[in-house]
Amino acid sequence: MKMPAALLVLCLAVSPGLVAHGQVDTLGFISIDCGIAEGAAYADQSTRGLRYVSDAGFADAAAGLNAAINPPYNVKGIADRYLTARYFPNDDGGARRSCYTLRPVTPGGRYLVRATFYYGNYDSLNRLPVFDLHLGVNHWVTVNVTAPSAIYIFEAVVVSPADFFQVCLVNRGLGTPFISGLDLRPLQDDMYPEATVNQSLALLNFRRPTATYSFNRYHFWRPASTYPVFRYPFDPYDRLWQAYGDIDAWTNITSSTPIDVSNISSFHTSSKILWSAATPVNGTLIDFAWSSDSSINNDNTSYLLLLYFVEVQRLPSNAVRRFDILVDNSTWNGSQRYSPKYLSAELVKRMVLGSRQHTVSLVATPDATLPPILNAFEIYSVLPMTELATNDADAKAMMAIRTKYALKKNWMGDPCAPKAFAWDGLNCSYFSSGPAWITALHLSSSGLNGGIDASLGDLKSLQYLDLSNNSLSGPVPDFLAQMPSLTFLDLSSNKLSGPVPAVLLQKHQNGSLVLRIGNNANMCDNGASTCEPKDKNGKRILAIEIVVPIAVATLLFVAALLILYRLKHKQVTWTANNSRLPSPQERSTAFGNRQFTYKELKLMTANFKEEIGRGGFGAVFLGYLENGSPVAIKMCSKTSQGDKEFSAEAQHLTRVHHRNLVSLIGYCKDKKHLALVYEYMQGGNLENRLRGQVSAITPLTWHQRLKIALHSAHGLEYLHKACQPPLIHRDVKTTNILLSADLEAKISDFGLTKVFANDFDTHITTQPAGTLGYLDPEYYNTSRLSEKSDVYSFGVVLLELITGQPPAVPITSTDSIHIALWVRQKLSMGNIESIVDPRMGGEYDVNSVWKVAELALQCKERPSRGTANNDSGWDGAQGDLRAGCPAWNGIWQLRAKQHSQSQCN
Ligand SMILES: *[C@@H]1O[C@H](CO)[C@@H](O)[C@H](O)[C@H]1NC(C)=O
Ligand SMILES: *[C@@H]1O[C@H](CO)[C@@H](O)[C@H](O)[C@H]1NC(C)=O
Ligand SMILES: *[C@@H]1O[C@H](CO)[C@@H](O)[C@H](O)[C@H]1NC(C)=O
Ligand SMILES: *[C@@H]1O[C@H](CO)[C@@H](O)[C@H](O)[C@H]1NC(C)=O
Ligand SMILES: *[C@@H]1O[C@H](CO)[C@@H](O)[C@H](O)[C@H]1NC(C)=O
Ligand SMILES: *[C@@H]1O[C@H](CO)[C@@H](O)[C@H](O)[C@H]1NC(C)=O
Ligand SMILES: *[C@@H]1O[C@H](CO)[C@@H](O)[C@H](O)[C@H]1NC(C)=O
Ligand SMILES: *[C@@H]1O[C@H](CO)[C@@H](O)[C@H](O)[C@H]1NC(C)=O
Repeated sequence: MKMPAALLVLCLAVSPGLVAHGQVDTLGFISIDCGIAEGAAYADQSTRGLRYVSDAGFADAAAGLNAAINPPYNVKGIADRYLTARYFPNDDGGARRSCYTLRPVTPGGRYLVRATFYYGNYDSLNRLPVFDLHLGVNHWVTVNVTAPSAIYIFEAVVVSPADFFQVCLVNRGLGTPFISGLDLRPLQDDMYPEATVNQSLALLNFRRPTATYSFNRYHFWRPASTYPVFRYPFDPYDRLWQAYGDIDAWTNITSSTPIDVSNISSFHTSSKILWSAATPVNGTLIDFAWSSDSSINNDNTSYLLLLYFVEVQRLPSNAVRRFDILVDNSTWNGSQRYSPKYLSAELVKRMVLGSRQHTVSLVATPDATLPPILNAFEIYSVLPMTELATNDADAKAMMAIRTKYALKKNWMGDPCAPKAFAWDGLNCSYFSSGPAWITALHLSSSGLNGGIDASLGDLKSLQYLDLSNNSLSGPVPDFLAQMPSLTFLDLSSNKLSGPVPAVLLQKHQNGSLVLRIGNNANMCDNGASTCEPKDKNGKRILAIEIVVPIAVATLLFVAALLILYRLKHKQVTWTANNSRLPSPQERSTAFGNRQFTYKELKLMTANFKEEIGRGGFGAVFLGYLENGSPVAIKMCSKTSQGDKEFSAEAQHLTRVHHRNLVSLIGYCKDKKHLALVYEYMQGGNLENRLRGQVSAITPLTWHQRLKIALHSAHGLEYLHKACQPPLIHRDVKTTNILLSADLEAKISDFGLTKVFANDFDTHITTQPAGTLGYLDPEYYNTSRLSEKSDVYSFGVVLLELITGQPPAVPITSTDSIHIALWVRQKLSMGNIESIVDPRMGGEYDVNSVWKVAELALQCKERPSRGTANNDSGWDGAQGDLRAGCPAWNGIWQLRAKQHSQSQCN
């Protein structure tokens, strides 16, 4: 399929007009001359002024370079669009796929797409490339350049699935892909109904020796040198019809009057394309053949054959033109004894299956007095569009995000498909019968600038969004909280400012979202609707808007001084003894001892709107302090204690401070209403992280689990050792271990059993306070609680951290056994893998898992002389008082050097 460029002289007369401005002209045509200067445009002479524009704005991510055709290939007379090319070098190991995005188009609309290629030694290397062309995400043809002077033209009829349509060049490692021109033409809905979103029609590439190009759409005007190609305006859809070529055995007959084309809808009446017909010089037969299209990598293709007939001669009454239309030697329905209609065009079409050689024969019937005629024909191969693209909402959002942040990467073409070309940093879900969806977006350390783009909110299936370590600025937008699938959001280490939307924080608290917002200097992570602005140096600007009576102001000032003094004092202690400084939030809330009225609680919680949990003593609500800090407010349904005792105990608890204990900020004792106000923990509770929905998306790593174990141990140790008398938690369990945004663990609800139990004695109680499965069996026998009861429960927590299993491990649909027994059974077979939480994905250190498992089991070890207790599944349940937990000290061997020095006031 090569031709000397000099022959490429189109026959059409030049006339002005029809030039529209913008990238889509008034006909809806997009005509791109690849390789001309950005923003350039011109009226094309050969098409009576169709406006050709540069490819800027169509080529994805400003990929590719412009080049001009070199002598001797830039001959005079060749159409302008062939004189330049855009090429897509791959030296940097960059994109293997380079795409053009054509828009706007109508979703479900029918289009003719044409890509043209003229190598012309543009790179002065005389290196002829072979590369692939894709229609959207599906293979279209292989462009195999075999001569520098050859012009390759490929056309396809497509139905666009979305409001944009992509054409991509794919580097196969066989030379640099390039392109000369790209055209898009809208077609009528009733044209080529065989094209659907599921299959396109690619104009057959089969080289006929008499024809100039290899595409198979022909007219029969003669001589071919005078009428090489008809296109716009002769064809209203700018399809290219080339001369079949001058064949000695055929001649032409032509009409001199217009032809009625109303029955074939795709021509103008004035169109001359069908006015000339081929007919045999001698005899009664017209025939031609074709065989497989080697540029389409499909040996099993089927073809669509379209034959156009119109009688162009007024026949005498005794003359008969009648013929059979045979494909592969047989007729089909409607093709027997066919007579073309006088001056009324008809289209006869048929699907032809199989990739072998096919023949078409028009054979005069015995009663015919005139030979057969043929006015035009087209042959398409059917391209199944089996590869499904990303759903268009996601695809459009990703294109907008790419534009907004000027991301280069390999972000070209469809985001998810084909899989081999999916964009870096994306995870997609693929479905056998439906488009792909984007589920994760990893844009950490990607140099993102500016605000958080609203298009992110259009990714309806996005579960994981990491925007950390960029320079994003501006507020945290509300739409992030509306993203239906989002379960992980990392905004840390940016320059974001202002408050975090309350709904995001609430999602975080209720465990439906992992939220990371650290290291954003100007952000207040407290969910307040207003946030104290800071000046450039990060200092808070005091915005005093309310006129405060002088007396009150004075009081506040004194109080502020006092608090400041206390804070400073504390800070020195922390700095000296702790590897880490408390965050500003900790400073502002950790050392409260405040009494709230019920009315205040009502205000803080917007009338108890948001219930974020339910504990043994009542519901827990999300509320906000006046400085905007979120707090968890635990309402206590009742207590048998006197008000005095409640207050005393609550006040005592507000003084228990440790970085691994959830701080009690204050309490409420207002008539019948009792409540405790705690610092709010964004990461939710450990049980949720281990076994809730969230863990399916971002399971805890082994390292994180170890850290959580150590933090909790610190908290527990503090209660036992630093408080006098020792403060026994009595209800250590995974739901009472809360996590901060960066997975720092803190123990919650300590001291509560004491506050609410009947018996004030720390060590002897008549009612079990703990939770089944965590409760020291010894306790049942002695009713004595000791530190060791907590250690026992903590052992269960350790086992849960290793295994991800609940304390009662289900072994059948109805039965379960205690986690310790389960682990012991499994470990007795030496099989540690079988107990490790599969959510860790095999990423753990076997030795350290063994160590922790042994420690955990030792926490429950006792002189074993009793029989197994069938109720609890726990062995040795009737044992004596344990000698102590030998493992307890071992836990510290695992930890880092950090050690708490805080005091229990
Ligand atoms: C390109 O075409 C040439 C000549 O027809 C052929 O020998 C070669 O195998 C083709 N290359 C590819 C990659 O199809
Ligand atoms: C395309 O294929 C899908 C899935 O196979 C089917 O649901 C749909 O109806 C098809 N559409 C057309 C126009 O054939
Ligand atoms: C064939 O077409 C040419 C114009 O291309 C015309 O001059 C000639 O008369 C035609 N032949 C017949 C037999 O109509
Ligand atoms: C178009 O086709 C219909 C049905 O085949 C036929 O009745 C009608 O006469 C045709 N119209 C013309 C102008 O030939
Ligand atoms: C037409 O047919 C006659 C008789 O069969 C033959 O002599 C003549 O050469 C043929 N002409 C062409 C152009 O094939
Ligand atoms: C070719 O296509 C037909 C019908 O679609 C199918 O039955 C056959 O298995 C295919 N053959 C090959 C080799 O793919
Ligand atoms: C059609 O018939 C001719 C002559 O009988 C034969 O040579 C050819 O192979 C047949 N073609 C097909 C596709 O069967
Ligand atoms: C022709 O059409 C009739 C009725 O529509 C159908 O029964 C028959 O199978 C068809 N024959 C062929 C060869 O397609």
